[in-house]
Amino acid sequence: MKSIKEINITNKRVFIRVDLNVPMDDQQNIIDDTRIRAVLSTLRYALDNQAKLIIASHMGRPKGRKSPELSLKPIAKRLGRLLEKDVKMANDCIGPDVKSLISAMKTGDIVLLENLRFHRKEQKNNDEFAKELASLCDVYVNNAFAVSHRVNASVVAITKYAPVSVAGFLLQKEIGYFSKIMANPQRPLVTIIGGAKVSDKLMALDNMLDHVDKFIIGGAMANTFLKSKGYNVGKSKIEEDLVGAARSIMEKAAKRKIKFYLPIDAVVARRFDPKAQTKIVPIQEIPESWMAMDIGPATSLLFSEVLHNAKTVIWNGPMGVFEIDSFSRGTIAMVHSVANCYALTVVGGGDTDVAIHKEMANDRITYVSTGGGAFLTMLEGKTLPAVAALEDSEKKYDNL
Ligand code: 3PG
Repeated sequence: MKSIKEINITNKRVFIRVDLNVPMDDQQNIIDDTRIRAVLSTLRYALDNQAKLIIASHMGRPKGRKSPELSLKPIAKRLGRLLEKDVKMANDCIGPDVKSLISAMKTGDIVLLENLRFHRKEQKNNDEFAKELASLCDVYVNNAFAVSHRVNASVVAITKYAPVSVAGFLLQKEIGYFSKIMANPQRPLVTIIGGAKVSDKLMALDNMLDHVDKFIIGGAMANTFLKSKGYNVGKSKIEEDLVGAARSIMEKAAKRKIKFYLPIDAVVARRFDPKAQTKIVPIQEIPESWMAMDIGPATSLLFSEVLHNAKTVIWNGPMGVFEIDSFSRGTIAMVHSVANCYALTVVGGGDTDVAIHKEMANDRITYVSTGGGAFLTMLEGKTLPAVAALEDSEKKYDNL
């Protein structure tokens, strides 16, 4: 990928696609601005190089409807404060008003376009929509790692129409970090995979079999693995149709001498309810009408021992129903085990990042990815469509 640093952006209209899809409460207060802070270096670089900055992002999933609660207005305010500059908010991302706002821009001006997903065509990777976006700029910059796994107009089709398409620093950093680790990891490499469903992680598990020395499995998906080993997991969530796939992953791991760790105890409850009575039981003793909601303390200890001699750790997915306090301890214990281990640690995935921030452990993790689905796609060993589009872009740079 060509970098923003490799082209001349002075006095140019630079369209920077970022992912400012940050969590907000129902009063539209930003709960966590990590994704905004993560793109600042690219924005500051463009400002320092006297560009005119057009910033674009999506927020939530409005499915083509103009939903005021998913407006980027609160983001414009926060961006302005962080950059110490005035950020003008556009009333849309395309159309005559936007065009005249942009044609009046002077060097150093910043315009934030309104939510791209207020147009259904964004997620349909529509060419006309992409053309309209591209017509706003002289240079297109993809700095939106977290949405680069989506085939959306503002990250894929736009590269066909923008005069030149390059990568921003965050996209370069995320891809660079991950590729370097996968190409030449310090061993042992331990991969921790959690979350609700084996089906969501099957491809990642399969791909990581080619790279890891040890696997740690937690979250509700561990139940399907336990079931495939013949344990009775009571009423715990399992994916019956994937019991065979889980078994086959463990068999492949055994053949390759990959160590495979599953929970040995669990926090169980009768109901999926914060007020439900809970108890801790060995995996062999999950009562018939109870379900596993989190890994137990013995498992946390085991998993932390497994991490002791790790040199590289990759973690995606929580160890239990993290959003409910009484089932969050396994994930919290894992945050501290990963943060304390003497290894290069890389963590990605929405819930996993939330756990790390909640425990204020970000500074003790080598790299916390801004991507959820995008991070998982990389674990699956796939090229992100938006990265492929940037690489394929056959634009000529000579005239810039
Ligand atoms: C994310 O939060 O993972 C990205 O912003 C992508 O959002 P999406 O899953 O709604 O496409």
